[in-house]
Amino acid sequence: MVRVNDVRTTRPATARTYRIALIPGDGIGPELVESAREVLAGAVRGTTVELTFGYEDGGAQTYRRTGTNLAEETLTALRDTYDAILKGPVGLPDVRRPDGTEAGVLGGVLRNGLDTYANVRPITLLPGVRTPTTYRDGDIDYVIVRENTEGLYLSRGLGIGNQHAMCDQLFMTRPGVERVVRYAFGLAEVRGGAPADGQRRVTCVDKSNVLRSFAFFREIFVEVAEEFPNIEPDFRYADAAAHDLVMDPSHFDVLVTENFLGDILSDLGAATVGGLGMCPAANIGDRHAYFEPIHGSAPTIAGRNLANPTSQILAGALMLDHLGLAKVADQIRSAVRSAFADGAIELTAAGQPRHGTASVTAAIIDRLSQGQSG
Ligand code: IPM
Ligand code: MN
Repeated sequence: MVRVNDVRTTRPATARTYRIALIPGDGIGPELVESAREVLAGAVRGTTVELTFGYEDGGAQTYRRTGTNLAEETLTALRDTYDAILKGPVGLPDVRRPDGTEAGVLGGVLRNGLDTYANVRPITLLPGVRTPTTYRDGDIDYVIVRENTEGLYLSRGLGIGNQHAMCDQLFMTRPGVERVVRYAFGLAEVRGGAPADGQRRVTCVDKSNVLRSFAFFREIFVEVAEEFPNIEPDFRYADAAAHDLVMDPSHFDVLVTENFLGDILSDLGAATVGGLGMCPAANIGDRHAYFEPIHGSAPTIAGRNLANPTSQILAGALMLDHLGLAKVADQIRSAVRSAFADGAIELTAAGQPRHGTASVTAAIIDRLSQGQSG
């Protein structure tokens, strides 16, 4: 559906008015983004903060309709008109480019287009969430900082080969690694350390035992670590990191890693905290940022009130943090936490809310309004 856009043209923002671009995306995206929009609106109700929302098109349906997954004009509007961007999941498995890759995926156009080099993925186990492990609330609370503009995925659209062979390249640059590692250390400075011992720690995750590109990554990590004497530099090969994130998650505080490894390890982390539907991401650059769930568009459950909107709602909270509205963001996180803790939201083994998407939204808004009146 194409919606009338009334935000691109509204008056200039006052200090407390924030213009939010919503990209509903594909599959379960529209219902998740609607849920998050309702929660955001509920969170600022009765405060001096005003959020205005504009809808922007992007993803597989946009590609199917127009031949491009995000119009140039939309990218310009995202860059210049809004204070923040909340994006739903995008991509549909049957909408592919001639080269076989998914056409709806916006990683290239948004992550590289907005130069959001740090993909920040908090992995937190909330009270009351059942998982395949025996960990409890408080045991798992780390952040994966995934390099977002280079690494293996810089090869997107550029793989070379023929019907007998195909090659993608993993590419890293010194400035690219430096800035994301520095971001990770900066984050560790403002967090409370690892659950196990309270130590502020940044773990470099790589395969420097095998590949030169990763040896380069680690070398730069060690250099940057020297700027942060109060933070413990820590190292894991990626395979061992996968093991330890399951066996000893409390050890971890902040992890920093290459794009492809971060993509995989963040899904692994999600599995330990109630599934992909629990995990938001912030895509942060020096000039732009956007916020989204870490998962895809799950078209098989779209429109059936089955999807867990928590990832999208928590992405909204990360967006508020970025806008300097940490207090409102904390209220949303507390509302989410308490709704899980007291069983108002319950997940099935598949990570779907037992009482439906809408019930999650309602439970969180309910707790927000209790907080506001109390
Ligand atoms: C993610 C997603 C995307 C990615 C997909 C949808 C292309 O899995 O944000 O982790 O691989 O980066
Ligand atoms: Mn992923």
